[in-house]
Amino acid sequence: MICVLLVAGHQPQLDWDVKQDISGRYVHLEGVPKALLPGVGGKKILDSWWELIKHRQIFNEVFLVTNADKIKHFERWATASDFPVQNIINDGTTSRETRIGAIADLQLCLKVKKIRNQPIMVIAGDILFQDQKFDLAQVTNFHGTKADGDLAIYYELGNDERIETRGIIEVCPFTNRIVKFWEKPSPDQTISRNASVPFYCFQPDTIAKIDEYLSMFPGRHDLCFGDLLSWLVNDKDHLIYAMKLPSGFQLIGQTTLEDYDAWIQYFTQQEKNDVRTRRISKRAYARVGLVGNPSDGFFGKTISMSIKNFWAEVTISESNKLVLIPHPLCDPTEFGSLADLHGISTKEGYLGGLRLLQATCKKFYHFCSTRGIALGKRNFSLKYDTNIPRQVGLAGSSAIVTATLKCLMAFFRITEKDIPKDIQPQFIMEVEVSELFINAGLQDRVVQVYEGLVFMDFDKDLMGSQGFGLYENLSVQDLPSFFICYSSNGSDSGKIHSDVRKRFDQGDPEVVNAMEAFAELTKKAKRAVQDGNWPCIAQLMKDNFALRRSIYGDTCLGADNIKMVDIGCRFGAACKFPGSGGAVVGLLLDHSRWEEMKSTYEEEGFVFVRVIPNV
Ligand SMILES: *[C@@H]1O[C@H](CO)[C@@H](O)[C@H](O)[C@H]1NC(C)=O
Ligand SMILES: *[C@@H]1O[C@H](CO)[C@@H](O)[C@H](O)[C@H]1NC(C)=O
Ligand SMILES: *[C@@H]1O[C@H](CO)[C@@H](O)[C@H](O)[C@H]1NC(C)=O
Ligand SMILES: *[C@@H]1O[C@H](CO)[C@@H](O)[C@H](O)[C@H]1NC(C)=O
Repeated sequence: MICVLLVAGHQPQLDWDVKQDISGRYVHLEGVPKALLPGVGGKKILDSWWELIKHRQIFNEVFLVTNADKIKHFERWATASDFPVQNIINDGTTSRETRIGAIADLQLCLKVKKIRNQPIMVIAGDILFQDQKFDLAQVTNFHGTKADGDLAIYYELGNDERIETRGIIEVCPFTNRIVKFWEKPSPDQTISRNASVPFYCFQPDTIAKIDEYLSMFPGRHDLCFGDLLSWLVNDKDHLIYAMKLPSGFQLIGQTTLEDYDAWIQYFTQQEKNDVRTRRISKRAYARVGLVGNPSDGFFGKTISMSIKNFWAEVTISESNKLVLIPHPLCDPTEFGSLADLHGISTKEGYLGGLRLLQATCKKFYHFCSTRGIALGKRNFSLKYDTNIPRQVGLAGSSAIVTATLKCLMAFFRITEKDIPKDIQPQFIMEVEVSELFINAGLQDRVVQVYEGLVFMDFDKDLMGSQGFGLYENLSVQDLPSFFICYSSNGSDSGKIHSDVRKRFDQGDPEVVNAMEAFAELTKKAKRAVQDGNWPCIAQLMKDNFALRRSIYGDTCLGADNIKMVDIGCRFGAACKFPGSGGAVVGLLLDHSRWEEMKSTYEEEGFVFVRVIPNV
C-alpha cells in the first residue's frame, strides 16, 4: 500500500490572523503552514501523522504533496524528520485562488510517481487528531478484510459540534457500508452524527473513477474529497465502507487562528478528562425471576428483577501491559495442602471467573473490529470480585461478563450507539455460549443490562426477525418485600438433567402447553405489577411453581429446593425458583410471620435474605 499525505492547501485566513495578532504569542508561527503548527502537547500536527505512519511496515512508500508557496518548510521538516525528501511533490501553486484542489493533488502525485495498481491511503496531513489514540494497523487490517470496496474514516461528533459544518455519513450497522453522504446537511436531513474526515483507503480500481470525476469538471479548482465521496456514494452507488476511529478530528479545510486555539485547548482538556477513564469500576447485579418460563429458548415471556443484595464488580485500569488478574479465591493457584486442593476443587469445581474476563475481551475486540470500530491504543488490567453465591441460579457468571463489558465500553469510550442496549444481552450470551460453551440464554443478561423490573417477550417471530425480543422496564410503586433463601452448602440443582428441552423440541404437547401457560402467567403478572396488585402476583408465583413442578418432576427439582419452597408455604409465602434452581424467591404478604419464617429457614441451615430491589 502507498500512503499519500496531502498538505497543499493554502491558508490565507490563518496566515493573516497570525500576522495581525498583537499578543506576540504567535510570532514564531508566521508563515508556517498549518500542518507544521504545534498540536496538542506541542508536537507538530504532521509529526503526529508521520509517527503513526513511519513505525509501520505496511507502506511501500509515503508521499507528501504540497504547494510552491510552502515547500521550503516541508523540505526542512523532511530532513529533520527522516522523511524521504525526494517523495515530496510540488503542485506549483502559490495562492488559494490558483489552487488545484485536493483531489487533483492526489491525481498529480499518482501521475508524477507513476503509481498504478496499488491500494492507496490518503490522509490530509494538516488535520488535528488526538495523538496516540489509534493504531493505523487497525485501519489497514479492516481495509484488507473489505477488498471489494474503499474505506472512509469517520468519528462521532462531540456534543458541541454541528453537523452543518461537516460531511456526514449514514452507515449501515450490518454491512458497515456508507449508504448516504451528506455534505454539510441541516439537522432535519439526517439524524446521523457520524462525520467523515479526509482519510481514505482507495482500491486500485477507484483511481480511474477519480479521473473520470475530475474530467467532468475541467478547470474547477475547488473540488474536495467531500464532493468526490458524495458523487461516488450517492450517484454511482460505489461501495465504500466506513470505519470509526476513537479520536476526534479537527481543523479540516480553512481555519482561523481562533479555531486553532480553541481546538488545541479542547483536545488538551479531553486528555485531562481521559485521566478519569484510567480506572473504572462497574457492577452488574444478581437477579430474581419473578414469573415466567423457567429457562430460555422456549420463546416465552418472563418478568425478572435486578437486586442489590449481590453483585459482581469489575475494575479496569490503564496499565503498561494488558493483564487479567486472577481472583485469589475464585481462581486459586495456591493451596494449603493437597487435601486443601482436593476440598476446594470438590466444592467449587475448576471454573473461576478469569476465563469470563478473557472471553469477554476476545469477543469485544472481535465485535469492534468486524463492525469497523477502531479501539484506542491502550493496555489495561482487569480484575473482578463477586459476592453472588455460586451454583444457586442467581446469574453469577453473566454478571461478571456484563460488568466486564460495561468496563470495556467505558474505557474505550464505546457508546450505546456502537453497541445498542438491545443487542448487549446477545453479546453477553454469546461470550458464554460460543466462547465458553456455558449453557445460557437471554433472560438473565437482559435484566442485567437493563436493570430494574423488566418484562421480556421472546416471541418467536420477533426473535427471528430482529434477533432480540421485546424488553420493557416496568415502573413499580409500593413494591412489597421479597425474600430469597439458598442452601449454604451448595446446591444439588443441575445434577439431574431434565428432559423438558428435548420434549419441547419434539413438540410434546404437555411441555408446549406448559410453556404457553407460563407466558399467560407473565402477561397477567405484568398487568398486576402495573396495578400494584401484589396478592395477585403472589398467586401467580405459586401457580408458576406448581406448573414447573408438574413438568419437571420432583427428582429434577431437588429435595433441598422443594424443602425451601415447603417451608415458605407453611408460613403462607408464595415461593418459586428465581432461576435454574438452588435458591428460592418468596413473597410473604403477611408480615407478622416474617421473623418466624426467617428463623425456621436458618434453623434448617439455609441462608435467608430480604431482597433489596434495584428498581
Ligand atoms: C453512526 O455510527 C454508529 C457507530 O458508531 C453506527 O452504529 C450508527 O448506525 C451510525 N449512524 C448512522 C445514522 O449511520
Ligand atoms: C501493551 O503491552 C505490550 C506488552 O507488554 C507492549 O509491547 C505494548 O507496547 C503496550 N502497548 C501500549 C499502547 O502501551
Ligand atoms: C448440607 O450438607 C449436609 C451434609 O453435608 C446435608 O446433610 C444437609 O442436608 C445439607 N443442607 C442443606 C441445607 O443443603
Ligand atoms: C430500568 O429501570 C432501572 C431502575 O429504575 C433504571 O436504572 C434503568 O436505567 C432502566 N433501564 C432502561 C433501559 O430504561
